[in-house]
Amino acid sequence: MQSKAKYGPMWINYLGPQLHVNLASAPLVEQVMRQEGKYPIRNDMALWKEHRDQKGLSYGPFTSHGHQWYQLRQALNQRMLKPADAALYTDALNQVIDDLLVQMEQKLAESESGDHIPDVAHVFYHFALEAICYILFEKRVGCLEPTIPEDTTAFVNSVGLMFQNSLYATFLPKWTRSLLPFWDRYIDGWNTIFSFGKKLIDQKLKEVEAQLQAGKPDEIQVSGYLHFLLTSGQLSPREALGSLPELLMAGVDTTSNTLTWALYHLSKHPEIQEALYKEVVDVVPAGQVPRYKDLACLPLLKAVIKETLRLYPVVHTNSRVIEDKEVEVGGFLFPKNTQFVLCHYVVSRDPSVFPEPDSFQPHRWLRKSQADVPGVQHPFGSVPFGYGVRACLGRRIAELEMHLLLTRLIQKYEVVLAPETGELKTVARIVLVPHRKVGLRFLERQCRAGALTSWGCFRGSVPAQLGQGEGVPGLRLKDLSAPRTAP
Ligand code: HEM
Repeated sequence: MQSKAKYGPMWINYLGPQLHVNLASAPLVEQVMRQEGKYPIRNDMALWKEHRDQKGLSYGPFTSHGHQWYQLRQALNQRMLKPADAALYTDALNQVIDDLLVQMEQKLAESESGDHIPDVAHVFYHFALEAICYILFEKRVGCLEPTIPEDTTAFVNSVGLMFQNSLYATFLPKWTRSLLPFWDRYIDGWNTIFSFGKKLIDQKLKEVEAQLQAGKPDEIQVSGYLHFLLTSGQLSPREALGSLPELLMAGVDTTSNTLTWALYHLSKHPEIQEALYKEVVDVVPAGQVPRYKDLACLPLLKAVIKETLRLYPVVHTNSRVIEDKEVEVGGFLFPKNTQFVLCHYVVSRDPSVFPEPDSFQPHRWLRKSQADVPGVQHPFGSVPFGYGVRACLGRRIAELEMHLLLTRLIQKYEVVLAPETGELKTVARIVLVPHRKVGLRFLERQCRAGALTSWGCFRGSVPAQLGQGEGVPGLRLKDLSAPRTAP
């Protein structure tokens, strides 16, 4: 923001020997994005690749380039990229949300005031990891159980270890690696991440083999994402091992932080929260579980997530290298291989695109019905999931996960800011995170109204694993056509 104020929307800087061309306006971002070729490159991902090379692993969607990346994306896009693909995971996500709500109930009951969660992002992190593991591997990994299994905890810790130490690993010269602890810690972090993924992939392979031995191949019921990729021949087990851990990494901090920011703002804007509550219970009355098709009737809910991602694009800066040709951007001609940095955080707070850019106004995304609210001005003003063929692979899953959970939370609770939270600032780590823990109070709506219809009012009588009593084992892919009742 300071550089833009000083130099305008385009400036250069050096990161070590690497020249960066920073772009901080929607038209400039658009110019670069629209000129990318068939195989867009973000950056060379040298540090991640070093680990894969050292361990003889194949590259995943973040680390691969060129035709190899293209082929991998063609495979990974199946059952993931289109909204209709994501719809398949509605029931699976609703099951995980059921368990999260039970866990939240317990946490709230244990808090001194009976309605307080001191670190919401932490709770959502575990939810997001559970959800993405269930979708990818059809396995529950115990993140929402009272005692989290050891290898799941080791995975969570190793992600932190890898990211913290990657900073040192990037900037320190290679000769320091054997003298200082950072490189070894960085590699150890990755090793634990991959062994967590390997265990889940091996389990799935065994299941598939057992099914093949037991019956005819065309009788096998293909359910989850990995199962589909392996049995349809889209991905070899080696490619799955190279790719799925990268999907896991991408699918946790992103959704959990966005959900945290969304609830923070809803707690600060009771009038917006109330409008959202009305919208939600009109479509999904208290006690019912949202179905995929219900989400089409929740425009404000979607606008809340869009506005949250505008204010806090978790991927705050992205990049592109255009390898095959010179490109003209902002009236300048740049040589091949120029590294462009796309300053999404700055762009999505540009007052010429979004009036009153620092204020939370979900209604700006509903321009058709709100003539008086300034609408969205530029298609590249807020592109939180990126653009083009290399855009986010998990966008539809992420949106579905956030929409379903937000629906349930707003249906059940009034969310109020806890006094210790105060004003939050953003910190740009690998993703954009709040500068301190976000404490919120969750006031149960049904209980307060005196209507003891919500299961939350019958604490103690709720089974720990909800959603599994319906007699359908494993991941359930089809959205139920009849409304399902919340436990
Ligand atoms: C709020 C949630 C999320 C946000 C805001 C987000 C944002 C992004 C962005 C900005 C990119 C770069 C796109 C580009 O360069 O044009 C990206 C890439 C990616 N995301 Fe997401 N993401 C989210 C959730 C997820 C989830 C849940 C998954 C897991 C399935 C996922 C998997 C990926 C992968 C694999 C890539 C790399 C794609 C490639 O290089 O081909 N993301 N994401």
